[in-house]
Amino acid sequence: MQVKGSVMQHECVFIILGATGDLTKRKLIPAIYKMVASGVIARFAIIGVSVDDTTMQQVFEQARMFVPDLREAVWEHMKQASYYHRMDFNDHAAYAQLNRLISTVEKTNNLVANRLFYLATMPHHFMVITKQLAAHGLVKKCARLCDDQKQTWQRIVYEKPFGDSLASSRQINDAIAEVLDEHQVFRIDHWLGKELVGNIALARFTNRVFEPLWHAEHIESVQIIASEKIGIEGRGQFYDAYGTLKDMVQNHLLQLLALVAMEDPVHFTADYLRDAKAAVLSKVSIDNVILGQYDGFLEEKGVSPTSTTDTFAAVKISIDTPRWSGVPFYLKAGKFLEKKEAAIHIKFKPVRCLLDICPTDTNYLTINIQPHEGMYLTLNAKKPGVFNDVTPINMHFSHAALFGPNTPAAYEVLLADVLRGDQCAFVRADEIDLAWRIIQQISNKQVLLQRYARGSTGPDTTSMLDTERTIIWKT
Ligand code: BG6
Repeated sequence: MQVKGSVMQHECVFIILGATGDLTKRKLIPAIYKMVASGVIARFAIIGVSVDDTTMQQVFEQARMFVPDLREAVWEHMKQASYYHRMDFNDHAAYAQLNRLISTVEKTNNLVANRLFYLATMPHHFMVITKQLAAHGLVKKCARLCDDQKQTWQRIVYEKPFGDSLASSRQINDAIAEVLDEHQVFRIDHWLGKELVGNIALARFTNRVFEPLWHAEHIESVQIIASEKIGIEGRGQFYDAYGTLKDMVQNHLLQLLALVAMEDPVHFTADYLRDAKAAVLSKVSIDNVILGQYDGFLEEKGVSPTSTTDTFAAVKISIDTPRWSGVPFYLKAGKFLEKKEAAIHIKFKPVRCLLDICPTDTNYLTINIQPHEGMYLTLNAKKPGVFNDVTPINMHFSHAALFGPNTPAAYEVLLADVLRGDQCAFVRADEIDLAWRIIQQISNKQVLLQRYARGSTGPDTTSMLDTERTIIWKT
């Protein structure tokens, strides 16, 4: 279908497997809405697939509240171009029916065969779905284009978490590699679609004031923090099986670390970027780990009363490259903490002090991922009216103040990348493998779980910080 007044751009059928889940209504339908409303997608259809007995009308009804400034005309267009297919992912015969439905939908809506499969399911479905989509001809292995003449493509997006261990992620990756080309595979880490995460490498590689200093000679430590005020929000069963290490560190935090610590990619394109991230992830070793669990976790619905799952993790990491020799990287994430904050703090080493009273702190570059997106540089500057006395000041870039508050949501950015076939912000098989290896190293450490009160700063982590060199958590 064609949305009136829009620029003819992308055209595809979205096939969302797991259409009745939270992700579809909270993120995917709203993201597709925004792309349709802004004309990024000109011609499209949506096929929702799940085992539930429902309709797309109902899916849209539940998604509606997650779409700000909804325009009825666009919403109605979307509903009219949507279809529902009920099936059990393990029922192999049902894939043939789905294939027929997709072909009919493509014909009815006069669409070329660009197919975007979105696996918004738990990872234990990934293998069977991938294999059956290929076995029944819904996708075929092709590089960037599946039909050179018609310029059509077939791509599969895999939602996180990608497996639950090194072994399971390897099995999934092996199954994928048998039937798809890596250029058709889009493993999502939605943090890579956040504006300020996209800024990390760009700020570093486009600014002379940062790039030459990005080195152990000048950097004292790096902190990567993802604190959340919210708890597990009704996801007891999932969270008990995963915990913070697998839910946050394996993906979001290690991706941030890779972006901060990678060597310069040969060129700023997907394969070179991912080569550089994988190279640095292969050099990570774990120095120290502190795990915590908030009071009351054991009473959450779906959580085992004897669970030893972590809802807080702090990890001290070393990176064995000349660039990062002796520089500690501290990662911290947790639920039910004092405040919501996702930030990267890069602490620079002090300069030789020429004053009688030396500055108490050194320079920091802080990248605020959320909630107050922006960057600031902490410098020393003269106190007004006082001779030779300095105080820390911030040079601040506020993303909302400069660019306005309506930046696209992460899923919108990432879906648009999939339509363009741009894999820069998607995680390659080898990166996933390396990240799970790091989590395995951490899990092997047999760390005692500490309790912490809801709304606190989490367990005491001072023992892991390098207090001699005055490294403390930056807030
Ligand atoms: C998800 C985790 O990947 O990221 C959640 O599963 C977490 O537990 C969420 O709350 C945090 O990301 P955001 O974008 O909501 O801050």
